[in-house]
Amino acid sequence: MQELVLKGRDIGFRYGSNYILDKCSFDIYKGDFSVITGPNGSGKSTLLKICLGLLKQQEGTVELFGKPIEKYSDWKNIGYMPQRVEAFNTRFPATVEEVVKAPLYSGSAFFSTNKKAINNIVEKSLSSVGMGDYKKRLIGRLSVGQQQRVFIAKALANNPAIIFMDEPTAGIDNKSEKEFYDLLYSLNRVEGITIIMVTHDYADVESMANRVFCLSNGTIDEKCEEVVRK
Ligand SMILES: Nc1ncnc2c1ncn2[C@@H]1O[C@H](COP(=O)(O)OP(=O)(O)OP(=O)(O)O)[C@@H](O)[C@H]1O
Ligand SMILES: [Mg+2]
Repeated sequence: MQELVLKGRDIGFRYGSNYILDKCSFDIYKGDFSVITGPNGSGKSTLLKICLGLLKQQEGTVELFGKPIEKYSDWKNIGYMPQRVEAFNTRFPATVEEVVKAPLYSGSAFFSTNKKAINNIVEKSLSSVGMGDYKKRLIGRLSVGQQQRVFIAKALANNPAIIFMDEPTAGIDNKSEKEFYDLLYSLNRVEGITIIMVTHDYADVESMANRVFCLSNGTIDEKCEEVVRK
């Protein structure tokens, strides 16, 4: 039996009187590489935020690793890369290293971890996105694509079981995008990390994804007739 890691049931959401999602249900299993596509404004980012407990749905339920999202607390297991990293306050006076480190201190599992171990984790995750040499640079002085990579590193740093990404390659050049997809592919296939990625570039990830969902007019539909599961 495949392990169910994310379960959405009849999710309904509105901003004020503006209905965004209606009766959205889905099951994501361990090891799935899931892609969510859909037109601008269809509610993809909203849905991710609901799955992470950052927004509260008015109807329905979300369970992460078998726990209602309201009660979920093991956040080190979850990586999240929000959309529009370029909207990040570029005057924020933090170095690359500090940005990646920030969540590692707050995660309870890392309270006892010594400084050296944390530095190793930061080093490893920055190297994996090709930003190892930028540790001491101010985040606000990097290009959008470089900032994007730093936030990918941040999402990877806790060695999460599942990573949510909201249009992670927006603003990245083709070569970096290819490298990024290779990295995601190995994280998924080799490390077994479950991936949930919102993207408009479905064609680029088609070969990697085993689940494709399309969100439109408030409802979510699985695109593939045949679900390939590893
Ligand atoms: N904070 C908010 N308050 C009110 N309405 C919002 C808010 N955030 C988003 N919306 C509206 O909700 C709808 C869904 O937005 P969402 O950001 O989830 O779409 P999306 O599918 O991620 O779009 P995109 O492809 O452009 O990223 C849009 O119509 C948007 O205008
Ligand atoms: Mg969005």
